[in-house]
Amino acid sequence: MIARTSLAATVCLLTVAAGAGCTPETENPTTTLRDSYADAFLIGVALNDPQLRGEDPRGTPIVESQFNSITPENVMKWESIHPEADRYDFESADAFVAYGEANNMFIVGHTLVWHEQVGDWVFEHPDGTPRSRGELLAILEDHITTIVTRYRGRVNGWDVVNEALADDGSLRESPWSQIIGEDYIAHAFRFARAADPDAELYYNDYGLESAEKRAGAVRLLADLNDAGVAVDGIGVQTHMWMDWPAIDDIEQQIEELGRLTNVMVTELDIGVLKDFPDQGSADVSLRGDGPGMNPYTEGLPDSVHTALADRYAAAFSVFHRHRDKITRVTFWGVTDGDSWRNNWVFPGRTNHPLLFDRNGSPKPAFNSVLEVARANH
Ligand code: XIL
Repeated sequence: MIARTSLAATVCLLTVAAGAGCTPETENPTTTLRDSYADAFLIGVALNDPQLRGEDPRGTPIVESQFNSITPENVMKWESIHPEADRYDFESADAFVAYGEANNMFIVGHTLVWHEQVGDWVFEHPDGTPRSRGELLAILEDHITTIVTRYRGRVNGWDVVNEALADDGSLRESPWSQIIGEDYIAHAFRFARAADPDAELYYNDYGLESAEKRAGAVRLLADLNDAGVAVDGIGVQTHMWMDWPAIDDIEQQIEELGRLTNVMVTELDIGVLKDFPDQGSADVSLRGDGPGMNPYTEGLPDSVHTALADRYAAAFSVFHRHRDKITRVTFWGVTDGDSWRNNWVFPGRTNHPLLFDRNGSPKPAFNSVLEVARANH
């Protein structure tokens, strides 16, 4: 199947290079990602601010034709939706939910609790002294209750807690764990469940392809279960590189976690640049620089297009094979130009990790993802 995909990718590459888009999608415009995988899982995408208003001339037609689930890339994160102690800002989040409803999308809320993109005021008094456990729990309860109640019955699933684990599978040291203790996670799920008993509630993280970190996630799910806290699914972010993780490790991750709960691929992208400075990390705070770390500022060579198409095909073959465990596959961005993997881990870095290029044209990788669905029918 890889060989067939490579051929299809090559054909597509040539037609894209000629400015003609990919065949056979242009001959059959009803062939879309969401239709191709309709009997397997939802196909989602993360939206930036213009996109969640339907106001991105390049991205919006792609969103509305290709996807049936949306996640807000930033506007529901703490610093956006709750910028100050006494002030919530729902303007963009409201627009996001309304957009999803208008387009009959499965709507995911991201994310209620994270150690990134959250103001210092949450953890500190104005004079810089730390808040107590009781104070922080009260702030957490107010935050979750206010947001989840507002979108009750409209947001279908929430990433309740994001990235609570360290690479070795232990609890990540963060103000949440340091001030409240490890039960902040159970509390967060309880607050969310009380606010909307019908919404699905997820734990979301990266790096669970590593057995060591995954063991931590398995322990976390067991502990939550023992504490009487129901979790409806686990989100595996799946920020990949060309040489990390091994496809077998992705498969083991899905098999093992899929025995415990629903699995969602929540933030899929495949960086074509060197995986550095930390292998396999999707830590947004990573920084680094060095020679040879930014080779594709002028575009992606054909050979890399083809390799990326093959890598996407390999990943989707695994996802499709485990479609009984996977409920959704969400891409973290619409086009390459939108991706968070640009300017990471240094300003000006140019990545090409998604299925649509900077002009919004489908890349060979788009065709190869469709081809996997076709080949498995
Ligand atoms: C990223 C956004 O895409 C960027 O726009 C923002 O500057 C930083 O966060 N893991 C997550 C996502 O769970 O929320 C992150 O999103 C990417 C890594």
